[in-house]
Amino acid sequence: MRTILSAPAWPYANGPRHIGHVSGFGLPCDMFSRYQRMAGNRVLMVSGTDEHGTPIQVQADAEGVTARELADRYNRVIVNDLTSLGMTYDLFTRTTTRNHHAVTQEIFTGLLKNGYIFPKTTLGAISPSTGRTLPDRYIEGTCPICGYDSARGDQCDNCGNQLDPADLISPRSRINGETPVFTETEHYFLDLPAFAEVLGSWLQAKAGRWRPNVLKFSLNLLDDLQPRAITRDLDWGVPVPLDGWRDRPDKRIYVWFDAVIGYLSASVEWARRSGDPDAWRAWWNDPSAEAYYFMGKDNIVFHSEIWPAMLLGYDGQGSKGGTPGPLGTLNLPTEVVSSEYLTMEGRKFSSSRSVVIYVRDFLERYDVDALRYYVAVAGPETQDTDFTWSEFVRRNNDELVATWGNLVNRAVSFAAKNIGSIPAAGQLTDLDQDLLARSRQAFGPVGDHLGASRFKFAINEAMRTVGEANKYFSEQAPWKLRESDPDRMRTVLHVALQLVDDAKTMLTPFLPRSSQQVHELLGGSGTWSDMPRVEEVDEEGGPSYPVITGTYDGAARWASVPLRTGTPLAAPKPLFTKLDTSVVDEELARLGGA
Ligand code: MF3
Ligand code: ZN
Repeated sequence: MRTILSAPAWPYANGPRHIGHVSGFGLPCDMFSRYQRMAGNRVLMVSGTDEHGTPIQVQADAEGVTARELADRYNRVIVNDLTSLGMTYDLFTRTTTRNHHAVTQEIFTGLLKNGYIFPKTTLGAISPSTGRTLPDRYIEGTCPICGYDSARGDQCDNCGNQLDPADLISPRSRINGETPVFTETEHYFLDLPAFAEVLGSWLQAKAGRWRPNVLKFSLNLLDDLQPRAITRDLDWGVPVPLDGWRDRPDKRIYVWFDAVIGYLSASVEWARRSGDPDAWRAWWNDPSAEAYYFMGKDNIVFHSEIWPAMLLGYDGQGSKGGTPGPLGTLNLPTEVVSSEYLTMEGRKFSSSRSVVIYVRDFLERYDVDALRYYVAVAGPETQDTDFTWSEFVRRNNDELVATWGNLVNRAVSFAAKNIGSIPAAGQLTDLDQDLLARSRQAFGPVGDHLGASRFKFAINEAMRTVGEANKYFSEQAPWKLRESDPDRMRTVLHVALQLVDDAKTMLTPFLPRSSQQVHELLGGSGTWSDMPRVEEVDEEGGPSYPVITGTYDGAARWASVPLRTGTPLAAPKPLFTKLDTSVVDEELARLGGA
């Protein structure tokens, strides 16, 4: 049994999630985690909403609410989005908890103690008209990297690069347009160059395991390691845990520094809520545990460079040595699994230009498994990929409905009508045996692909067995055997239903909702595929907040299980809905103009 941390990126609590978001960090991680649980491994899947920093403050200003109100609102919205996608988090929490603040401050302190964080005087923006600090979020200007003229002080939304306000060309205040004055101010920096060597050998050892693009990108980052500011001129975030800083309203820890710590703090919170406060250590302190991080490619730098550096520094393993703090020696990522970008009908997702489809709107109109299927089979796994409504409808109709749904429907209906239960097999022909063996053997490669986050290979291999089963059913034509050879008919039906059952098992990580239905169609009871639930919790009398959690002890196991003959069968309702092609025009009409 392996011990596996599944770590999907933390969505910003600044708006509802759209399908571009969830196809990158979310659904792939859930497919991976469901598979690992079915394979008998001990999985901890933790994440939450990312609620600090400029991205939240800017949106709060735009909506005319406080950062806290904004975070509270979208935390709830996102919890609902992710729950309805069937994301099996052990804990989905948020970064504004006391626990998260405490763990973040502990990591900061440990890094400082080991000598990997140092203060430095740098340039901060001042508003000339008021003489006061101008927070990062109020500064915009031209991106020095791509030339985009509305880059924010912390980041360019056009090229995605992280920036410092002092980097901007012709910076201006978003409040009154004036040019800020940059004067000296103190910030804390993470000494990234102190990790050059250890990060280098850690990454080199990943060759052949990580997706090539991700590894190449990560290795390139090492060519230019500079100390990185980890505090900001901001009033919304985790306070800096130092005398003289703690109570300053204008200095906070940088949002990315606290966000990546969320994986650890959420594990600690999960352990506390589960009644065994040290349970998180199995995933973080035991060197044989594994950790897989899932995200879109704009997040790679934080997961393959900054977070590992923070962990190594806390562990005392950079060039300055040191000793681990009370959290112990913390494990590095086993793999940073990054997807590429999803575009929407040839354009970048953009809420403001309504080039978008939100998760909740999608799920109001279409089946959750149709989305999960599309993301697995046609998502941006290793290259930028375009979502088109016509491809969605085609995949839904030709593959989900006409291939998988149809196999289940005709095999179960025919058996229900003509026999009423799962028939026993008589003498198996070579063809029968061969097909059953191929289906059983597919568990090997499909599982290997899933465990290595090769979702396309995995689902295509599973669907290949569905195709073979369909072909078998058509060729054996049990309806022709009803009178002439009822024994052979029963054997054919038994084989076909066993193939259905195997395919259902292999498709469970991708299609948990419909796999549960197939489980029931074949006479199974109880939970087959687990689903998450929302709970309202608090921290000792603090404000309550929703978390996603679950009891993931459903019956699904990664193995072919012989059918129990005699199990009663009823005529099934269709598993999936065929979509009219008019859906394409309707959806295109909803998208904002080009
Ligand atoms: N909120 C970030 C984004 O949406 C992702 C943070 S991932 C974390 O890009 F691990 F750092 F939290
Ligand atoms: Zn740019």
